[in-house]
Amino acid sequence: MTLSSQGYHYPSAVCISLTGKCQCDCLHCGVKNLHAKYLQTEYTLLTIKWVIDQLSLIGVHFIDLFGGEPTLRSDLCEIISYIKSKNMLVVLESNGINLTYKYLVDLKNSGVDILFISLDDYREAHHDLMRISGAFELATKAISMCKELGIVCHTSVVPNSLDFFVSGHINNYLKYCQELGAQKVRLIFPVINEKNQNNDCNLYASGNEVDVLKLIEEQYYDFVYIDGFPSSLRQVLNDNQYSCPSKGTIFTISQDGQVLPCPYIPLSFGDFRKASFLDIFESIQDHPMINRLKKNCIARDEYFIANYVSNISKDNPIIKINSENKIFLEGQTHLGKRLQQGNALSIIIEQIKAVDSKYRSIFILGELAARNDWRVIIENIPKAFEIIINSRGNIFYNSELLSILNKYLLRRINIIIHNGDNLAEFLIGVSLLIEKNLVIRLYVESSINKNDLLIFIDAGVECVEIFEKDRYENVLQNMDFKVATFYLKKGINL
Ligand SMILES: C[S@@+](CC[C@H](N)C(=O)[O-])C[C@H]1O[C@@H](n2cnc3c(N)ncnc32)[C@H](O)[C@@H]1O
Ligand code: SF4
Repeated sequence: MTLSSQGYHYPSAVCISLTGKCQCDCLHCGVKNLHAKYLQTEYTLLTIKWVIDQLSLIGVHFIDLFGGEPTLRSDLCEIISYIKSKNMLVVLESNGINLTYKYLVDLKNSGVDILFISLDDYREAHHDLMRISGAFELATKAISMCKELGIVCHTSVVPNSLDFFVSGHINNYLKYCQELGAQKVRLIFPVINEKNQNNDCNLYASGNEVDVLKLIEEQYYDFVYIDGFPSSLRQVLNDNQYSCPSKGTIFTISQDGQVLPCPYIPLSFGDFRKASFLDIFESIQDHPMINRLKKNCIARDEYFIANYVSNISKDNPIIKINSENKIFLEGQTHLGKRLQQGNALSIIIEQIKAVDSKYRSIFILGELAARNDWRVIIENIPKAFEIIINSRGNIFYNSELLSILNKYLLRRINIIIHNGDNLAEFLIGVSLLIEKNLVIRLYVESSINKNDLLIFIDAGVECVEIFEKDRYENVLQNMDFKVATFYLKKGINL
């Protein structure tokens, strides 16, 4: 059975951490420590533009500028204008400290869609205690000025105790924000991080968030939403479910190239300088940890904290995750040639058995279609897994394998094209697969002329990933790219 290429395989929203620098070191915030190791490696403007280009090509339409404190970058307005030039929505998160009238006018002119200003309490002393002395005054002034300037402003609040709800402070807070002129309130439940993991606060109401939210007065139901993808309070209460944004909608890029499921989940599934965004996003969505909870926030889950957060430290703030659902066949061949060498069948079957059944997919790297024992390999794959296979063109000549794959959940066939390959032969083969309604993604060596690839797009491939070294490596200065992928899709100018 062929699966749709849409759905959770494509991210729609991405947080980009623009800097790890910040004027504050808030009590609850792990971002500064999380990135402390990488503070020196901020993206250059050119890199950010390249990232935005890539995200735009894979269909991302919502960018959340995150940090640290993004307003500490002198090119912030230029970044926002660039995002807007790609017709994406852009929100900016800020502590409000730098938001003078002039800064806000510049932000408005740059086209920012929503400004999230952190306001953790309606009582000045409480907010400043969390953050820095004077922060309350500057943040509240900025919120009022947004109203005057017609900038859409939401406050971000991270209530730091259950008492904030039980004693009714949440309702006082909401009233205060309405009076200030905020258009909405974005409520974030605190998560544990490397810095605050030993404090005795923060995990209140884990798993019972909806009960706590019931303490909010009904008059504010349409004024508040829960962080993640705008999930209105009314909807959360109706569904009795608080959903985690890392499932399917959002991923985060830290300023050192690491790609995380969400800013609060310190797991890196890859480095975008070495792998493509789509591939990394797919690894995130397929991983058992991300799929563990059907609802609620993974970062607030006790299992996650015990098994992952407890292993991080100031010196090792991000855990690098290896995807263990990859089966390596080895051996080289292409376009109908017989495979000369490769891993022994017994080794391959051991690899398949070792894949955690909670993975969503199994990914076969190497040329299954050219092996004599392909049938045994396939029969050893549990039917519950979605399958992704790679092919250097041999799949075109193995119709028996294709029909057997049809009985499995076949997510996609990746066709790998190298410099010197016969493109016409590949085109005929790819077109035949597309006629069978299979989802085909091309991975192509950069030296192949891009104009010669447009015909594959017309034939209906899902997308083309081109591994391009030379074009970007001078541009991306300090980023030390090993490969840079970019995507060709219909309608994109070369
Ligand atoms: C990390 S800050 C970056 C933007 C900006 N510096 C600010 O303070 O708004 C983004 C949001 O994350 C929130 N945040 C920080 N630490 C958190 C934690 N442990 N749990 C939940 N939210 C947190 C902040 O309060 C803020 O609303
Ligand atoms: S919450 Fe924002 S202002 Fe506070 S330390 Fe974190 S990044 Fe800085």
